[in-house]
Amino acid sequence: MISDRLLNDGWTFALDAPEGFAPVTLPHDWLIADTRDLYRSGTGWYKRLLDASALQAGQRMLLRFDGVYMDSTLYVNGREAGEWKYGYTAFTHDITEFVDTGRPNELLLRVRYQAPNSRWYTGAGIYRDVRLTVKNACHFVPDGIYITTDKRDGRWHYEADAEVETGGRPYEARHTLMEADEEITVWDILHPRLYTLRSELWVAGRLEDTVYTRFGFRTAVFTPDEGFWLNGRRVKLNGVCLHHDLGALGSAVYPDAIRRQLTLLKRMGVNALRTAHNPPAQALMELADEMGFLVMSEILDMWRHPKNTYDYARFFDAWIERDMAAWIRRDRNHPSVILWSVGNEIADTHHDAREGEETLRLLMALVRKHDPKAHARPTFCTNYMPWPNTRQCADVIKLIGYNYAENLYALHHAEHPDWIIFGGETGSTVQSRGVYHFPLCQSTLADDDLQCSALGNSQTSWGAKNVEACLYADRDTLFSAGQFIWAGQDYIGEPTPYHTKNAYFGHIDTAGFPKDSYYLFQAAWTDVRQAPMAHLFPYWDFSPGQMIDVRVCSNAPRVALFLDDEALGEAVLGSRVAADWRVPYRPGTLRAVAYGDNGESVAEACRQSFGEVSALCVTYDTFGGLVFAAVTAADADGRSVENANRRVRIRVENGELLGLDNGDSTDRESYRADNKRLFNGRLLAIIRAAPGQKPRVTAALDDADIPIRKIELTAEGYNITARILPPEATYTDLVWRLTDAGGIDSPLGELRVSEDGLSARITPKGDGEVTVRCSPYNGLDHPAFISQRTVRITGMGKPLIDPYAFVAGGLCNASNTELTNGNERGVATMRDGESHVGFRDLDFGEGGSDTLILPLFPLDGAPFMFEIWEGMPSEGGAMICEARYDKGSVWNTYQEASYKLPRKLRGVTCLCLVFRQKVHIKGFRFTGADNHPA
Ligand code: GAL
Repeated sequence: MISDRLLNDGWTFALDAPEGFAPVTLPHDWLIADTRDLYRSGTGWYKRLLDASALQAGQRMLLRFDGVYMDSTLYVNGREAGEWKYGYTAFTHDITEFVDTGRPNELLLRVRYQAPNSRWYTGAGIYRDVRLTVKNACHFVPDGIYITTDKRDGRWHYEADAEVETGGRPYEARHTLMEADEEITVWDILHPRLYTLRSELWVAGRLEDTVYTRFGFRTAVFTPDEGFWLNGRRVKLNGVCLHHDLGALGSAVYPDAIRRQLTLLKRMGVNALRTAHNPPAQALMELADEMGFLVMSEILDMWRHPKNTYDYARFFDAWIERDMAAWIRRDRNHPSVILWSVGNEIADTHHDAREGEETLRLLMALVRKHDPKAHARPTFCTNYMPWPNTRQCADVIKLIGYNYAENLYALHHAEHPDWIIFGGETGSTVQSRGVYHFPLCQSTLADDDLQCSALGNSQTSWGAKNVEACLYADRDTLFSAGQFIWAGQDYIGEPTPYHTKNAYFGHIDTAGFPKDSYYLFQAAWTDVRQAPMAHLFPYWDFSPGQMIDVRVCSNAPRVALFLDDEALGEAVLGSRVAADWRVPYRPGTLRAVAYGDNGESVAEACRQSFGEVSALCVTYDTFGGLVFAAVTAADADGRSVENANRRVRIRVENGELLGLDNGDSTDRESYRADNKRLFNGRLLAIIRAAPGQKPRVTAALDDADIPIRKIELTAEGYNITARILPPEATYTDLVWRLTDAGGIDSPLGELRVSEDGLSARITPKGDGEVTVRCSPYNGLDHPAFISQRTVRITGMGKPLIDPYAFVAGGLCNASNTELTNGNERGVATMRDGESHVGFRDLDFGEGGSDTLILPLFPLDGAPFMFEIWEGMPSEGGAMICEARYDKGSVWNTYQEASYKLPRKLRGVTCLCLVFRQKVHIKGFRFTGADNHPA
C-alpha cells in the first residue's frame, strides 16, 4: 500500500440541488438538523477537490465509504464513477480511470433519501468515514484477508487466506504475527486480547502491498442443549439490540460516543450486541473487539417484501450478492462476531415457505462463500415462529433468534432437538426516564403526558410483561443461548405507542442517562462479589399521603428499606432482582440497604425529598475528544431536584457544542440550540474539545421559562385541591381528569373543576376507586406530567356503561385470557389462540342498536374474520355474527370499521368480540343516539 488516509476533511455540502455548497465535516447526517422533520425526502450533494498528482502509472486510487445513507452515485470530474444502493454496507470505488494527475479533480457524490424509508430514524448522508487509498497495480483486494483460528493438540493456530490482484503474475503472501507472545492469550469478553497480522504481498522479489489486520484467538460454539460456549466456557448471551443513531448526534458516527454507549452497556452487565437491523459502522466493530462484546451482526430488516416504499427491497435482487459480500468481508476477522443474522422478521418466510426457503438458502450460501470456515454462524431473527412456513425455514438454518416467543421455546426444543434457540429479540417494555405512572400493579400504555412509566408497568401488546419476566424466562431455560433485549438504548424513531420523537424501548435514554430498568439488568447480569449494587426508585417527591410503589433492586441476596429511621421491612431476593413496597408519601429520606451472604451490608441507595431548584451542577465525562457534560439541578440544601424541568442555557468554552439532549421523546426542540429544558432533572451537553484543551460548560437557569415542576394534591372527601410548585411558575393552566387506575375515563363519577382551576369536586356515580389526575401544560400541546390521587367512592351501587358514548377498549372487564394494553387506552389481543374481549354491564336501553363502530389496529395487514357475541362464549353467550375486517394495517393507527348486526342489542347486557390474531381495539360505540339509556 502506498498510502491510506481518512478523507473526511475538505468536503462541502448542498441539499436538493448541487448549488450553494457550504463546508461540512464528515461523518455527516443532514436530517438531524431539523428535529421537527427528521424524515424529509431530499437529495444531498457532497463535493470535494482531490489532488491526484502523486498517483503514478499503474497505481490504483480507491475511495472507500464505510456507509452512505443511501442510494449514492459518485461523479469524478463530471463522469459517473460508481454507485451503491444500500445505506449500511461499506463500498469502494476505484477512481483511477477518472482522475487527472495534472489538475485538481472534482469528487461529487449524490445521495438520495426517499421517505417512507425505514421503520426507524436512519439519518441521511455520508454518515460514516471516507478513506482514500493508493495501491500498486499488484495489491491485496480490499477486505481480501481472511483469518481464522482454532485450537488443535492444545495449541492455538491461525490460518490466513489472501485474495490478490497481480494480473496473473506469481506472488507470495507473507503473514507475520506482530505480537511475539510466548503463549497465545485468547480473546474473551472478560479479557479481550487482540493480535495483529501483517500481510505482505511480494511479486518478483518486490514488496507491493502491506496490510495489517486485527484479530483474536477464540472458539465460539452453539449447541442445541447447552446454548453458547466461548473458549470452552458456557456463556449466556446477555445481549441488547441497538440501532445506530447516537441521539443528538444523529446517525453521524462518532467513535467516542459509541465508546461511551458501550461503556454504559458494559456496566449494565451486557456482554452481547445485536446490530439491529443492519451492518454497523466499522468503529463499532473495533470497539466491540477491544471492549469484549460478542456481536450478532445483521444485514437486513426485509428481503424482497418491503416494509416501507423506499426501503432496500427495491434493490434486493440486483444488489444482494454485492451487499452480502461487503457485509461479511469487512467484518469476518473480528473475534467479536459470532452470528451473521441474514434478516429480521422477514415476511418472505411467512408468506411463502418455498420462496422464503429459496432466498434463505441463497443468503446462507453467500455467508458460506465469504466466511467459508464459519468464523461466525448464520441465523435469522423472527416473530413468525408460531406459523409453519417460517418453521420450515428455521429447519434449514437450525439456529434461530426468536422474537417475543419465549412461550414456544420448550415445545420447539422438544419437537426439534437439533435447533439452537435463543431470544433474538425480547423485552420491548416501554419506559421514560424518571416518569412514574402509579400504581405498579396497573399496567399502563398510552397516557396524556405521552410518556411511559419507568416503574415497570408499561408493556406493549407483543413484548414481555416486564423486565423481570424476560430475565427469569431466559435464565430458567438452560438450552437457550441467551437473549438480546429490545432495546439497549432509546433510538430516534419508532416512538411506540405515541407519535413523538424517540423510542421508549431503551433502558438508557437517547442522552445516555440510565433508566431505572437499567439497574434491573445490572442486578441480574453482574456479580455481587465483584460489584455489589443497589438501586432504589422512584425519586421521593409526591403528594403527602399518596400511596407510592417503592422498588429496590440489587444483585445481593437480601435488601431492606427505611424511611428516615423507620424500618419498612426486609425482603429476601433469592433469585429475584427486585423487591417492592407500597409506602404512603411523606417527605424524608428513603434508604435501601443490600446485604451479602453473611448479613453484612454490601451496597446502599438513597432518595431524598427535595425543594425547588436553586442551582445547577455540571459533571464531565470524557471519551477521547468528546466531553459529555451532564447538567443536574440542586435545591438550596444541595439536594438533587430529580424532577427538575427548568430551561437551562449553556455556554461552552474551549470546545464546540455539538448537541443538547435530555432524553425526552416529546421534546421537539432542536438538538443544536444552546438551551433546553431539563427532563426529570437532567440535560446532556455533548462537546467536541478544542485540540489540547479542556472544555468548560457554564449552565444558567432561564427565568423567563419556569415550568410547573410539581402539583401537590390534597384530597378531602370528594374535594381535591392542587398546589402549584414552584409558586412563581410561568404557567398556571391545569387540566383535570377522573380516570380508573389505568388512566381511562372513569364511569364512576364526574369531575367539576373550580373557577380558578385549582380544585375539583367529584360527583359520584358508582362504587369503586377512582383516580383524580391533574396536569400542567407548561406551554406544550399536551399535559407535561401527571399528578394523581386516588379516592374511594361508596354508597352509589354499580354503574352501567353507555355503549352510545365511546367505550374505551381498556374498560374491557371480561376475558378468557390475559389481554394486554392497546394503544390509546385500548386493549390488545394475544398473537396465538383465541382472545375474548368482553364488556359487561352495557346499557343499550329499550330501543337498542344494531350498528357497531369499531376502530382496530391489527398488526398484520391481511383481511381477517372475527366474531361478535352477546354474552361471554364460556358463559352460555350467543354468537350474533361473524364479521370481516379488511382495512389493512397502518402502524400504530386505528382505522374505524362499521358493522350492521343481524339483530339489535337491547337492555343491560354483555358484548364480546372474539379474535384469533393480534389486534389492538381502541374501543367501540353503537350508533342510535335517541336510544340513550335513561
Ligand atoms: C420488533 C422489531 C423491532 C422493533 C420492535 C419494537 O418486532 O423487530 O425492529 O420494531 O419490534 O418492539
